[in-house]
Amino acid sequence: MDNISDLKIAALGLSGVAALYLLIRNVYAGPRLDFIPTVGPSGSVASYIGAFRYVFHAKEMFQEGYDKYPATFFRVPVVDRWSVLVSGKQLIEDIASAREEDLSFHQSTNEFLQTRYTLGRGCEKDPYHPGVIRTSLTRNVGHRFPDVRDEIVSSFADLIPLQGHDWLAVPAYDTMLQVICRTSNRFFVGLPLCRDPDYLALVNQVAMDVVVKAQLINFLPAFLRPTLGPLISSLKRNMRRAEKHLTPLVAERLKKREELGKDWPGKPNDLISWLMDAAQGDELTITALMQRVIFVNFAAIRTSTDTFVHLLFDLAAYPSYIQPLREEVEALVKEEGWTKASVGKMHKIDSFLRESQRVHGIGTQSLGRKVVKPDGFTFSDGTTVPSGTYLHATTWSLHHDPELYPDPHVFDGFRFDKLRQSEETGAAKYQAVTTSLDYLAFGHGVHSCPGRHMAVIELKAIVAHIVLNYDIKVANGEGRPANQYIASACLPHASAKVLFRKRQN
Ligand code: HEM
Repeated sequence: MDNISDLKIAALGLSGVAALYLLIRNVYAGPRLDFIPTVGPSGSVASYIGAFRYVFHAKEMFQEGYDKYPATFFRVPVVDRWSVLVSGKQLIEDIASAREEDLSFHQSTNEFLQTRYTLGRGCEKDPYHPGVIRTSLTRNVGHRFPDVRDEIVSSFADLIPLQGHDWLAVPAYDTMLQVICRTSNRFFVGLPLCRDPDYLALVNQVAMDVVVKAQLINFLPAFLRPTLGPLISSLKRNMRRAEKHLTPLVAERLKKREELGKDWPGKPNDLISWLMDAAQGDELTITALMQRVIFVNFAAIRTSTDTFVHLLFDLAAYPSYIQPLREEVEALVKEEGWTKASVGKMHKIDSFLRESQRVHGIGTQSLGRKVVKPDGFTFSDGTTVPSGTYLHATTWSLHHDPELYPDPHVFDGFRFDKLRQSEETGAAKYQAVTTSLDYLAFGHGVHSCPGRHMAVIELKAIVAHIVLNYDIKVANGEGRPANQYIASACLPHASAKVLFRKRQN
C-alpha cells in the first residue's frame, strides 16, 4: 500500500472517530459565527456532512465559497471546528499584516501540529527559529551553495543509476524526498550526517508522525491531552533516535563554545551554529537544539519535496519546455559557473517553478491564523470576527481566478517570464520568491515563509541539474500523474514513476 492510500484510510478512520465523538458532544465548540455564510449545511448535526465532504473535497468547497461570496467571508466545517475563509485582496492584506498579538500564526500552527506533544515544548513556547532562517540561514545560501550543488550531483548519481542509453522508471516521490532531504541537510548539518540513512529516515518519519499524531491528539477533549498526548505522540522515540546522531555534534559545539568563546576558530557555518548563536537560556541545551534542528527539517523537507515533485511531473508531462530550459542553464553555467547568482538568473526555471506552485500549490488554503485579540479582530470592511476563530485565505481559488491569471487552468511554464519581460515595473514582482496578494504559495506578510530563499535556489538548482543531464518523460500514454487532495493539502501522486535516461543530445 502506498503512502497516499495509508493517508486516505487514516483520514477516513480519523474522521469517523472524530465525527462519532463530536456527535456525542453534538455541538461545534468555539465562538458564534452564525453571521458568516456557510458552504454546505450549517445545522449542528447536518454540518458533519460538510465536514466529511471537506476531507476529500475541500478545494471544491473553497471554490464554491469563492464564487458565491466574493471579497468577503464564508465558513466551512472542519470535523472539530469551523474554519473561516476570506477572499478579496483587502481582507487577505488584513490577515497578512496583522500583529501576532491579534491574529496568531503560532497558536494556530501549535494547535494544528500539537507542537508541545509532537515536536517539543520548547518549539511551542519560543519560536525563535524563523528569525534564524530569515537572517543567518538566508544570508548563507550563497556561501554554502557549492555544498548544496555537490550534494545534488552526488545524490542523483547514487539514486538514479543509469546504464547506457536505457530509460529507468524512477519512483518520483521517494527519490526526490531523498534528494531534498540530503541536499537540505548538507546545508543544515553537513557531511557525513546528511547522508546517514538512519538520520534521513528519522527526519522523514518525524514529518509523517507529527501530522498523523497531531490529528489524533486534536480529536481528544482538551482535558485529556496532557495525559494522553505524550502517550500518542512519538516525540520520545524520535528524539531518542535523533540523540544518536545529533548529541555528539551539538555537545562538541557547546564544549568548544564554552572553552573558546562564541566565535571559536573553525566554527562550522551551518544551522546548528546559527541556532546556537540565537538561542537563549533553556534553548541552549543539547536537547533543545536537537529538537529545533528536527523542527526546521519538519518545516523544510515535505514542503520542498511536495513542491518539487509537482514540478517534476510538470516537466515530464510537458517536454517542450526542456530544450529552452537547457539552453538557459547552459548559457549561464558557461558564463558564470554554478553559483547562487547564476541560478538566480535562471529566469525561465524560476517562472516554471512559480507556475507549478500556482497551479499545484501544496496547500489549497494558506495564511492560517487564530484570532487571539480578546475582543475579536476587526477587518478593514468593519466586520469583527470573535476571539477563537480560525481564519484562512482561499489560495487555490485565488491562483485560479481568471481575473488574475488568464486561462488559469492552463499550465503556462513561461507565464511569469513573459510578464517579467513585458512589464517595466520591476522583474522582482514575478519571481518565485516574491509573495503578493495574488500569490500565496509561500504565504504573505508578517509570517511569509522565511525558508523560501533557500528553497527556491535549491529547487531551481535541482531542475537545472536534471535538464542538463537527463531526458525525462512520463510513462508512454500516461499524462501528468493526478494530484491527491486531502483536506486542504494538494499532494503530488505518491507512487507515480518518471522515466529518466542520460541526455541524448
Ligand atoms: C517550497 C518549499 C516551501 C513552501 C511551499 C513553504 C510554504 C510555507 C508557507 C505557506 C508558510 C506559512 C506562511 C504564512 O502563513 O504566511 C511557511 C512558513 C514557514 N516556513 Fe516554509 N515553505 C517551504 C520551505 C521552507 C523551508 C526550506 C524552510 C526552512 C529552512 C521553511 C520554514 C518555514 C518556517 C519556519 C515557517 C514559519 C514562519 C513564521 O513562524 O513566521 N519553509 N512556509
